[in-house]
Amino acid sequence: MEIYAQGTSVIERYAAHLDTAPELIRRASLQESGRIVQLPPHHEVPLDVLDLSTANTTGTFKSWLACVTVARCLGEDQALILGQSSGNTANAMAAYTAHAGIHAVFLHPPASRRRIVPRLARAGTVRFIEIDASEQHIKATMAACARTSGIPVAPTQRDQDEANKMRAYFLRDAARELGRQWDWHVQAISSAFGPFGFYKGVQEIRRTDRAAMRVPRFLGIQQEAVTPFVQALTGRKGDPDADMVEPTLFRRALTDELVQRMRRLCAASRGTVRHLTNTRYRRLEPHAITMLQEAGVTVARDSDGQPRERAGLYSLAGTLDAIEQELIRPGERVLAVYTGGSAPPPPGTYRPHWRARPDEAPDTISRALAEVWRGTDGRRGAEGRR
Ligand SMILES: Cc1ncc(COP(=O)(O)O)c(C=O)c1O
Repeated sequence: MEIYAQGTSVIERYAAHLDTAPELIRRASLQESGRIVQLPPHHEVPLDVLDLSTANTTGTFKSWLACVTVARCLGEDQALILGQSSGNTANAMAAYTAHAGIHAVFLHPPASRRRIVPRLARAGTVRFIEIDASEQHIKATMAACARTSGIPVAPTQRDQDEANKMRAYFLRDAARELGRQWDWHVQAISSAFGPFGFYKGVQEIRRTDRAAMRVPRFLGIQQEAVTPFVQALTGRKGDPDADMVEPTLFRRALTDELVQRMRRLCAASRGTVRHLTNTRYRRLEPHAITMLQEAGVTVARDSDGQPRERAGLYSLAGTLDAIEQELIRPGERVLAVYTGGSAPPPPGTYRPHWRARPDEAPDTISRALAEVWRGTDGRRGAEGRR
């Protein structure tokens, strides 16, 4: 049952808390939204879901990120940007850059191909390159190409912080209207940009109004095949040979800064990070799907009947697991974040504009940038950096 929603763009509503001018946010916006859905309690633990999937343009929480990023790019007169993604950020950035008339080149690994929305890839403003390499290699290649070409990388870590900070303002107002606070905040993590930004927002709010928002305990969930945060913080390992169940949650190599941030976040919120074994996830998945569907949250399926996107399901399955293992105790109220999973399979077939082996990637990226650059009107900001 839906218990809270906002009728206008969340990002426009809280634009005063961003660095970017509200007018630019308005130009970039595609009606970013969110809602809260209440589920039946599980073992006497009251459960709410923050649904950041259903009403957002590309079906994931990355719509908020794309709005904030594109607004900043408009303000800095950036006509062309370069980025990499496991799919969802690329979709959101493709939609928002096309809307704002900014050009973009996005890199993704082969496992993300089924995630890209064909219609978005057909926008004349974007080029996708599939690179047959690890996510770490793709990130390094992108950074090197950005240095040599002078084309800026987006989103930046600061964009991530700013966009996800909005979640705290949204939840502050939800808490006020609903008269409830949450003891736990649960999200399936890859780089953990969502929770980092959210807790930054919580701190910002509490600096001026301590009572407005409790600091919920953070619970980060990783899949068994990709557990770098769990390993760094707890020393526990998943099975690196386990099947990758959700390609979106793909980040294996962390920077020291991300590890330190997660340590601080867990210490400050009395939180933790855990992984779900594939066996345990598969056992909990049907229950998580039923709970969501009965509460009115769509779990989209592919033609083979499998969920299209499991990141949101991992949050809820990880919550159920933590309740059953008594980390989350009866009476503690949980907010599990459904970061994606509602968008139906899009029509058509996506084919990358280019495919490249690792050794070919720098050259392919240069060609893609040159091709898409011809489509820009050579605005000053980007031209100056060439
Ligand atoms: C749908 C979805 N959920 C969760 C994540 C994890 O995001 P992060 O760990 O950066 O907060 C991502 C992206 O990586 C995503 O696309």
